[in-house]
Amino acid sequence: MATNTETAFDLVVVGGGPGGYVCAIRAAQLGMKVACVEKRGALGGTCLNVGCIPSKVLLQSSHHFHSAKEEFAAHGVKVSGVELDLATMMGRKDKVVGEFTKGIEFLFKKNKVTYVKGAATLTGPNSLKVGDAEYTAKNIVVATGSVSAPLPGVEVDEKTVVSSTGALALGKVPGSMVVIGAGVIGLELGSVWSRLGTKVTVVEFLDKILPPFDDEVSKNTQRILEKQGLAFKLGHKVTGVKATKSGATVSVEPVKGGDAAEIKADVVLVAIGRRPYTEGLGLEAAGVVVDPKGFVPVDSHCRTNVPSVYAIGDVIGGLMLAHKAEEEGVAVAETLAGQAGHVNHGIIPSVVYTNPEIASVGKTEQQLKAEGVAYNVGKFPFLANSRAKASGETQGFVKILADKRTDKVLGAHLIGPNAGELIAEVAIAMEFGASAEDIARTCHAHPSLAEAVKEAAMDVAKSAIHI
Ligand code: FAD
Ligand code: NAI
Repeated sequence: MATNTETAFDLVVVGGGPGGYVCAIRAAQLGMKVACVEKRGALGGTCLNVGCIPSKVLLQSSHHFHSAKEEFAAHGVKVSGVELDLATMMGRKDKVVGEFTKGIEFLFKKNKVTYVKGAATLTGPNSLKVGDAEYTAKNIVVATGSVSAPLPGVEVDEKTVVSSTGALALGKVPGSMVVIGAGVIGLELGSVWSRLGTKVTVVEFLDKILPPFDDEVSKNTQRILEKQGLAFKLGHKVTGVKATKSGATVSVEPVKGGDAAEIKADVVLVAIGRRPYTEGLGLEAAGVVVDPKGFVPVDSHCRTNVPSVYAIGDVIGGLMLAHKAEEEGVAVAETLAGQAGHVNHGIIPSVVYTNPEIASVGKTEQQLKAEGVAYNVGKFPFLANSRAKASGETQGFVKILADKRTDKVLGAHLIGPNAGELIAEVAIAMEFGASAEDIARTCHAHPSLAEAVKEAAMDVAKSAIHI
């Protein structure tokens, strides 16, 4: 890390999340003099501190607990007296997060990125303030991320009524939990607490869970999670949450009309999406406009309406995912260095880390239908995959959508073991404009879960062997 006495930079990045810190490092690698300003006291942003990483730690730990209690016996492994030590589980999560945040500080030092601790306020198109210190920059990148969207009239106290941040740090396992929103956070954190013993009810406004995902994936996922004990109230809106002495009462009402109802719960998790965060940033002083929802509009190079100011990650909207923010960070750094920075927003994988995992890339069937694109479907169930059968994880399938005329892969939708890893193969194939036959004719190791991807690709031409 360079010392904090410099005030004139080629690039100042505001926000040290996956968009911002990656952008800062790449720009420094390309020879720019770079500072990154972060106000939360730790690098890594939402993702590392209160998002991707702590949630995945708890998903893994709660999965181990659940497996030891419910699944080991089927493998002939007898365990008795399985007990939860929640404090150790939470402590491990905090340790992993701490190690990673320190790791980014090390990377800043290694790449000579100046880490400025504090809240940045833009004072012009090439200047900003952090406390009393003033900085100038040839370019500024806004990477200030997002925060949980509030539900009007519902106060989040992070104890009884929690956002994802509170749900990652509960001090004891609640007896019951209502999750508002059957999106990614609702299903991941709902799964964590359900596995640890909480009775979880998920209330969703729409008539399907995971709304942007392929309909078939949403329906199957709901069935699987219901078997795991999660209850769903779809097509219902929450009209109020009243904190009581012992928890909260959630008022719900069918969206299409009908009788209102009340659900009592020890804890209520509000997970209805995230909104861009630009509070106190001073965008107006730099002349940067925001759209009516607060997102910062950018062109295909992530440039705002002010030529010296770029914006990346959650604050510009689109998929609110860490890897999308990172790609944009790299692309902006490379553009500023005179290279051809580019992000293919059509091929960004999405993964939901439930058990089994859900993964998706490219177009869904409903999107292709709406666009009038003719397509073929190839499908292969994990039940017929030898590796999945060997490990006893046979739920789900791989579904590949390919152009009817050219056979080019247009999308893939998976539920199944390690789906979040398997999706990378299809994403690479799509980046190279591959056909389903290209995947089908590539030799895959046996026995492997990846063979299910190969067989689904073979099934596009109805030539799968094992179904
Ligand atoms: P952020 O990570 O939000 O970082 C922005 C940073 O800017 C923050 O640290 C903030 O303190 C700082 N900042 C804001 N304003 C200022 C200012 N004025 N001055 C200085 N600093 C400022 N995505 C995935 O891809 N995979 C997952 O598994 C996943 N899991 C998630 C789980 C949860 C519970 C949540 C909430 C999110 C999850 N996400 C996941 C989404 C992911 O966290 C975000 O998409 C990602 O963090 C966005 O990166 P970013 O750099 O745009 O913003
Ligand atoms: P989300 O957008 O995924 O889901 C929100 C859900 O709440 C939607 O299904 C929506 O219809 C529903 N909803 C909205 N208002 C409602 C209301 N009043 N009553 C009932 N339901 C309502 O948002 P979520 O789950 O909060 O996550 C935010 C973002 O964080 C995600 O979109 C994703 O980008 C990111 N994330 C990514 C993860 C991953 O990649 N594995 C994990 C967790 C979060």
